[in-house]
Amino acid sequence: EKEGYAHFMLKEIHEQPRALKDTLSGRIAPDGSGVTLSEINIPEEELREINKIFITACGTAFHAGLVGKHIIETLARIPVEADIASEFRYRNPLLDRHSLVIVVSQSGETADTLAALREAKRKGARVLAVTNVVDSSVAREADDVLYTWAGPEIAVASTKAYTTQLVSMYLIGLYLAQRRGTLKPEEMTQIVTGLRKLPDKVSAILENGKDIETFVRQYCDCSSIFFIGRGLDHAVAMEGSLKLKEISYIHAEAYAAGELKHGTLALIVKDVPVIALATQSVLFEKMLSNIKEVKARDATVLAVAMRGLEEVAKEADQVMYIPRTHQVLTPVLAVIPMQLLAYHMAVVRDCDVDQPRNLAKSVTVE
Ligand code: F6R
Repeated sequence: EKEGYAHFMLKEIHEQPRALKDTLSGRIAPDGSGVTLSEINIPEEELREINKIFITACGTAFHAGLVGKHIIETLARIPVEADIASEFRYRNPLLDRHSLVIVVSQSGETADTLAALREAKRKGARVLAVTNVVDSSVAREADDVLYTWAGPEIAVASTKAYTTQLVSMYLIGLYLAQRRGTLKPEEMTQIVTGLRKLPDKVSAILENGKDIETFVRQYCDCSSIFFIGRGLDHAVAMEGSLKLKEISYIHAEAYAAGELKHGTLALIVKDVPVIALATQSVLFEKMLSNIKEVKARDATVLAVAMRGLEEVAKEADQVMYIPRTHQVLTPVLAVIPMQLLAYHMAVVRDCDVDQPRNLAKSVTVE
């Protein structure tokens, strides 16, 4: 039941601190020096020989995979491709027994994801599933399963499943890094410590969601919204854009900020709302230039920035800050304002938040 919340989606957004804690529980070494994923049983020699990782999934789960690509490449230094399952299954991917295929699926029953898993197994790859449903088809057919402990997700728009999938990507990245020795112990400890603090930081963002509502009231009648970001922020922008489209029916597009001037900038005109994600300190200067670029066309910019990057306020019309965290962990925090934005837009526009038109919670047909 909705437990006093107006919609399942809002309830599930607020369940995230708990869901993240549960997904981390028992998977972090008590002294914070690393991770313990007893459910993954890749033999030593096999693990050493993995030379390529593919992450495949649909929709929001695919967006978690895009973050996973950055994370695993950064932490474990193994090349990773993230691919939409309906593409992956038909493109004759170059897989062999040295490939690890990670499939991500909340329901564990998505037709294309399951078919991608079977294709990977047929080609001799090892398959690791990240799923939220115990004993789902994906869980049964994979070699190893890492469960997200989000609990049942009822709203069609995925929220707590996504953030727990992100946490799973960190756990897998750290696990591979640990087994292959690609991170310094102090880096490992820093990220593990950061992971542990995420649930409380998500709670803090949820308590200060009011700025989003102001923005929503101003822009609920717009016909299109753009989301821009670089690196991990680009992946989060894609999720923000999908969420907004699916429940508020406002057209939205996510763009890698540096790519705007190669075409899409033509659509950025007076008063067009642009959500600019700026959580990556190393890319911050570049992001500031992109914000200036859209401001020069009189767009209205709502920035979602990490604390410490306050300079963004000089350029953006409004800023919503997320608490400071380790650079690789920002997506878990940055997506919360995106979820709230989509949710409040849908409510103000009188849309059916939990059951958007034309969509089903579990897509078991192709
Ligand atoms: C969007 C959404 C969908 C699902 C996608 C995959 O909010 O929920 O894009 O993420 O249909 O579903 P699962 O994860 O069950 O395979």
